[in-house]
Amino acid sequence: MIRTLQELDLSGKCVFVRVDFNVPIKQGRIVEPHRIERALPTLRLILPKAKKILIASHLGRPGGKKDLGYSLAPVRDHLERFLSQPVTLAPDCIGPDVEALVQDPRYKVILLENLRFHKEEEKNDPVFSRALALLADVYINDAFGAAHRAHASTSGMAKFFREKATGILLQKELDYLGRILSTPERPFVTLLGGAKVSDKIGVLRNLLPKISTLLIGGAMAYTFLKAKGIPVGKSLVEEDQISLAQELITQAADLRTTLFLPVDHIAAEESKEKPITTDVSIPSNHMGLDIGPKTITQFNQEIRNAGMVLWNGPVGLFEVEPFSHGTKFIAQALAESKAISIVAGGDTVAAVIQAGVEEKITHLSTGGGATLEFLEGKRLPGIQALEDGE
Ligand code: 3PG
Repeated sequence: MIRTLQELDLSGKCVFVRVDFNVPIKQGRIVEPHRIERALPTLRLILPKAKKILIASHLGRPGGKKDLGYSLAPVRDHLERFLSQPVTLAPDCIGPDVEALVQDPRYKVILLENLRFHKEEEKNDPVFSRALALLADVYINDAFGAAHRAHASTSGMAKFFREKATGILLQKELDYLGRILSTPERPFVTLLGGAKVSDKIGVLRNLLPKISTLLIGGAMAYTFLKAKGIPVGKSLVEEDQISLAQELITQAADLRTTLFLPVDHIAAEESKEKPITTDVSIPSNHMGLDIGPKTITQFNQEIRNAGMVLWNGPVGLFEVEPFSHGTKFIAQALAESKAISIVAGGDTVAAVIQAGVEEKITHLSTGGGATLEFLEGKRLPGIQALEDGE
């Protein structure tokens, strides 16, 4: 059994909260604070109850050594603004200086420095796990984005606590993504995009029997179109995945899952050249870079009639303006649909935010790899570690 944050008594306790604040930072500034904002309900619920709150995260991949380019300092500034409360950045995540801060009643909210400054974090080292655990009375994991990692702070340290639970964000992820795996509302429409079939294969295999309609866009569609013998010009194709795409097309037909591939495209000789609209086959000197208007209409219709929609992966090269329309239209269609809408993947979430419709989406998943592994049906170490008796 896994408990939720709301079930624990936090009064007078020191609470360790593992969050995923692995946010994009450029020149010391946070480019996209979505992941920080999504952890706020958990922090705000703990704050008035607990004696002290220790917030811990990784940031990037500093390779197990202290590298201030990966410091959580910019996150501290953001957090302080969001919480309207002083947040102290500890010089490290374990050690005597951190222990002193934890003991000092003047500091209520402490952000521990990047966990990955210690190589023991990613090695799930038991001594390091214990040192982290000794800092607090209660362990809350709200780091869904890192739940597929069996690291000290996501997995190893949990066994030292009797009082441990999911944070609000992690619980929400489990509820919505779990619903996809158990009883998705029908018709259940899945839209997959992005560059590679190979990245999505595990998800496709696991979800296909549940999907009513599968829509495929993005560069991965060209591998499927080529598998059907349709000319795709210079479009990105994973040659080694063509037979797998053929297998999936057959499997979808056997399962009576409706499969829609693009019926037209926005294509260009190069991504910087002037685009043209093509029908389903792409001229040999062109590459497909977005779905065309007929495909948009078809996909929109499926999304509007759905009971539940899962969307992972942009349907075009959305960061380049002439090829961003398909992805924007899909975001809009999803926002206007009555379906339960779940959007997963960094680029897809970014596209939804860019389109300004994030408030209209039922659930924006904060996981990248974690979401895919969960939807593949894998048990995530960060979730398993919260089970009683673990
Ligand atoms: C993510 O961004 O997907 C998570 O924070 C995990 O990061 P990692 O891939 O560096 O472990």
